Amino acid sequence: MRKILFDCDTGIDDAVTLLYLASLVRAGEVELVGVGTVHGNVDSRTGALNTLRVLELAGIETGVPVAIGAGRPIAQDVHYAVEWHGGDGLGDTRLPEPQGRPVAEPAPAQIVRLARAAPGELTLLATGPLTNLAAALLLDAELPALIREVVVMGGAFDHPGNITTHAEANVWHDPEAADLVFSAGWPVVLVPLDATHPTAVHDDWLRRVAAHDSAAARFATRVLDYYADAYTPTLKRRGAVIHDALAAMLAVDPGLGEYAERAVRVELRGELTRGTTVWDARSVPAEDSRRPVRIAVGSDVAAFQDRLLSAILSL
Ligand code: RIB
Ligand code: CA
Repeated sequence: MRKILFDCDTGIDDAVTLLYLASLVRAGEVELVGVGTVHGNVDSRTGALNTLRVLELAGIETGVPVAIGAGRPIAQDVHYAVEWHGGDGLGDTRLPEPQGRPVAEPAPAQIVRLARAAPGELTLLATGPLTNLAAALLLDAELPALIREVVVMGGAFDHPGNITTHAEANVWHDPEAADLVFSAGWPVVLVPLDATHPTAVHDDWLRRVAAHDSAAARFATRVLDYYADAYTPTLKRRGAVIHDALAAMLAVDPGLGEYAERAVRVELRGELTRGTTVWDARSVPAEDSRRPVRIAVGSDVAAFQDRLLSAILSL
């Protein structure tokens, strides 16, 4: 039973990932101990309300505290990805207010409290900018020893960036936070664009979701329709890349991925390259004092798409 603490910026692929996690919770395979939200696709408060909306729609009305986290990055202005996720973060679906409310505890404090309550048991799954994780590390220097594993959707290595030519959005939104997370010494699995882009879903897959008569499938269809409209110009045919769901799936079933082990650094000063994730890909890399990160370089795409579809249709 994986105990997952989810930190996200609930936009569209984060929302579909919540559906995936909800299906695993209801199947008794995962315990979702809490959710924290962070600036990124949308502001952190909207992300929290979106998270509550999706959990309620997936039949998880209570028992999962949703905490609002950092409203801005450490060292740059905040930026929202409205063009990809809509003004409300959920494809301008304008869903009604959720029944539940976010908890008063800030997300970084929730990370520290829940890690201390279950030392060595939590998988910290992060699919937004890493500001909350960085803040939690500053709050509690012992945190790296208290967390079982950190799984991050972010970065790009042999794949172009998606917010600048080199930088991936989650890392670009807060490069200082990302560099702190990659150098903290805890076990990190990084799921970059190199692994997520090959999992793009297309009309055949989207039609199978649309054909299912449930509130969850109708919601997924509406938000993925918006996301596919935004994504299609960057793909060869209509489709969308549900990045965050791959990170969640590899957190639950690491055997679905292929990995390289390399120390990862983040460019903080380059005028054109700030937010770029850098690994030493030489066959004999230079000695790096940082603990290597497990970087997903590929995955079982068919298994990913089948399992995500089954999860959505199970709700
Ligand atoms: O680069 C993709 C990532 O940025 C995903 O987590 C998406 O939700 C956005 O946050
Ligand atoms: Ca995200």
